[in-house]
Amino acid sequence: MRFVIENFGCQMNDHDMEKMGSVLIDQGHLPGSMDDADIVIVNTCCIREKAEQKFYSLMGRLQHLRRKKGTILGVTGCIAQQEKESIFERLPFIDFSLGPSNIHRIAEAVENATGQVRTSAFGDDGCSPSLLIRPHNTRRGVKGYVTIMKGCNNFCSYCVVPYVRGREESRKSGDVLAEVREMAERGIVDVTLLGQNVNSYNNGNKDLSFPELLSGIDAIPGISRLRFVTSHPKDISPELIACFGTLRTLCESIHLPFQSGSDRILALMNRGYTSSEYLGKVEALKDRCPGIALTADCIVGFPGEEDGDFEATMRLMETVRFDGVFSFIYSARKSTAAAALTGRVPPAVAHERLSRFQKRQRAITLDSNRAMEGTRVEVLVEGQSKNSPDELSGRTRTGKIVNFRGDPGLVYKLVEVDIIKGYANSLRGELPDTPGR
Ligand code: SAH
Ligand code: SF4
Ligand code: F3S
Repeated sequence: MRFVIENFGCQMNDHDMEKMGSVLIDQGHLPGSMDDADIVIVNTCCIREKAEQKFYSLMGRLQHLRRKKGTILGVTGCIAQQEKESIFERLPFIDFSLGPSNIHRIAEAVENATGQVRTSAFGDDGCSPSLLIRPHNTRRGVKGYVTIMKGCNNFCSYCVVPYVRGREESRKSGDVLAEVREMAERGIVDVTLLGQNVNSYNNGNKDLSFPELLSGIDAIPGISRLRFVTSHPKDISPELIACFGTLRTLCESIHLPFQSGSDRILALMNRGYTSSEYLGKVEALKDRCPGIALTADCIVGFPGEEDGDFEATMRLMETVRFDGVFSFIYSARKSTAAAALTGRVPPAVAHERLSRFQKRQRAITLDSNRAMEGTRVEVLVEGQSKNSPDELSGRTRTGKIVNFRGDPGLVYKLVEVDIIKGYANSLRGELPDTPGR
């Protein structure tokens, strides 16, 4: 049968989608399109209300597909976990629902659906077996993702993740290293380690620490680039900072969400650090690794956020000069502590703050891209441009997109590129030996 997976949410979900695809292909199913699919799986996210709304409106459309063609419909991921059995009341036409820890049962769920048997599983099966699936047949190319831990223990007061992804659990370092070795053998050169809070990997376990795991991966032949998402500022240790500039493969970039620049709001968010502690870690990273690209997440309009708190967020952003920030308006989530807080910020005020923040950050991102003009950087070529075949697109070690003219034979190769122009979201480059220069 042909299947389609509609995916929402974070990189963890992207990777879960790959894993499910891989299991289904192993069972003899084939990837298809919405037009020819016999099975549609929706892998869901509930981090903000908008994500949930998108899901329910998609399900409305899929219900028609089911009526017309009898398509098998399944829901997986964080909304499945949040709603558990009650999802079948709201969406009585679906065939199965699996939480993020239960996606290894996807083939069984599809099989049951062909016999009109409904499958549901929302247990916390821990690190095995959902984390152990190795998506070996779904992705072409030279970039790969490895889950190193699941769940989150931080309980930031606004966040639903600890409720839907359960408690932190780290995979054994031996399994992670074996998976990366296998990826390297398949030609993968760029590896991203995934987890909600990767830098608390193996906290309290008798196994490799996170910096030791990074060193272990660094030593694997064939791997050229290593990254990890997401880090929590409170768990950035001196040992981790020392890895930058030391480990050959570790890319000069880090995603380090700050969420707010106001200490009062950070405390209400239960983030476990102050703005000056955050800035201290950023200084240490920049000292150790000059030119490191810093990206972050930030929330505006948290309950009780006053003008002065927002100004502190603006100041923090100005001080760090991030290469990019994903910024969001606070969205109240059920079960979370912040949902009970008073002092809701009026939506118009929150929108105004968000647009001020984004406007300023866009200007800073443009400045940092322009500052790269005239430099020569290593680019991993990811593919050809959709619009013109002799246009290639790749990424720097700092994660910036570079577009340049070049031979399609360079796809998946590491090349040196001269940056000639910095734009808001990308860089324009030129191969050093371009004729006519
Ligand atoms: N584990 C990661 C990612 C969490 S989700 C981390 O700790 O950073 C990604 C981002 O979504 C968060 O960093 C936060 O900025 C945002 N986010 C989470 N819950 C939110 C909510 N209730 N409203 C608005 N943004 C939220
Ligand atoms: Fe959510 Fe905080 Fe955990 Fe990130 S660290 S997943 S924001 S609870
Ligand atoms: Fe969304 Fe779940 Fe990721 S809520 S952000 S898909 S962990």
